[in-house]
Amino acid sequence: MYIDNVKLKNFRNYKNQSIHFTSGMNILLGPNGVGKTNLLESIYLLSTTRSHRNDDEKEMISFNEEFAAVEGTVNTKEGRDRLDIILHKSGKTLLINNAVVKRNSEFVGRINAVLFSPSDMNLFDASPKDRRKLIDMEMGKLSAKYMYNLSLYLKSLKQRNAFLKSSDDKVLLETYTEMLYEPQIDIIRERNQFINSMNTYLTYFFNQINGDDSHQLMMVYRSMIKEKKNEEEMKKQIKQVYDSILEKDLAFKTTNNGIHREDYEFYLDGKNVAKFCSQGQKRMVILAIKLSIMQIIYQIKREYPILLLDDVFSELDSNHRSCLLNLLPNSVQSIITTTDLREIYSIKKSDANILNFGKEVR
Ligand SMILES: Nc1ncnc2c1ncn2[C@@H]1O[C@H](COP(=O)(O)OP(=O)(O)O)[C@@H](O)[C@H]1O
Ligand SMILES: [Mg+2]
Repeated sequence: MYIDNVKLKNFRNYKNQSIHFTSGMNILLGPNGVGKTNLLESIYLLSTTRSHRNDDEKEMISFNEEFAAVEGTVNTKEGRDRLDIILHKSGKTLLINNAVVKRNSEFVGRINAVLFSPSDMNLFDASPKDRRKLIDMEMGKLSAKYMYNLSLYLKSLKQRNAFLKSSDDKVLLETYTEMLYEPQIDIIRERNQFINSMNTYLTYFFNQINGDDSHQLMMVYRSMIKEKKNEEEMKKQIKQVYDSILEKDLAFKTTNNGIHREDYEFYLDGKNVAKFCSQGQKRMVILAIKLSIMQIIYQIKREYPILLLDDVFSELDSNHRSCLLNLLPNSVQSIITTTDLREIYSIKKSDANILNFGKEVR
């Protein structure tokens, strides 16, 4: 899929701007502070209804304005759609082809985009919560069932926690606990499946970016229980987990185990990436993760997502840069920011649409 037009009104530093993209490689060129990341953020917003930067959506509205509007036109194998997001001080309105949609889930994934941002480097040092957020976001875009089970689980978890705050009745608590079983079984199955898919691509992409074939990159899922074919066996295991933490839950008045506490780790040649890899290696691991996600999206949707690469090249040496550029499939639309065209000198000028963000663009 590709996006060919984005219109921004009162979005961060853009008062009123229309930007055209080609279906291949697009380079956003310009010095720091001109709004390159803001433009990628607006496309990410159209993809996920959220900012990749922070949770306060109002910050995207230009200073001293009441609302912001982002419009994008996307071309997919199903056709051409216009998507609009209007951000108000009190919330947001989503439109598909000029009709208001009530549910986020109807909107999310209409534009599928995979973003690499310098802040992704935090993935390894982030809390397990932030790591889960990344995976939950990606999986949610791919599986409506996953999104449904996750919100069902979180609702039941909230009820159990509220009950723990108000009572220590163990018999009643058990009914709340049992409500956590089924959505978790499905979520654990889907997380396992996703990680298995990741592991079919990670090593390949890491080695391609690195320019050799000597390394092995693995993603490991620290799951609360082992997956079993038999659902009853999984339920039994989950029950054991909750039985074993019962006293702790009652003492702390909160739920101390479950899929909301799981984590992921990455291992390069058997060594924990977070602990033992250099910044440069971590960057390549993140790129391998993003490209693997791109490939999984392709495998499921039979269509490549849009690739948004923010300041990737400034941190890579020239060998790794050209390895990365060569890796991008021809049919992927990419939108790449850079402050210096020399960073991507290996691209023939005719191959890329260069958008020069000098002062005149704004
Ligand atoms: N809500 C906002 N209203 C107006 N300008 C904003 C807003 N948020 C950020 N900016 C401006 O956007 C600019 C940064 O844009 P950014 O996309 O990060 O630049 P870069 O080209 O370096 O990626 C800054 O000048 C900042 O003041
Ligand atoms: Mg930037």
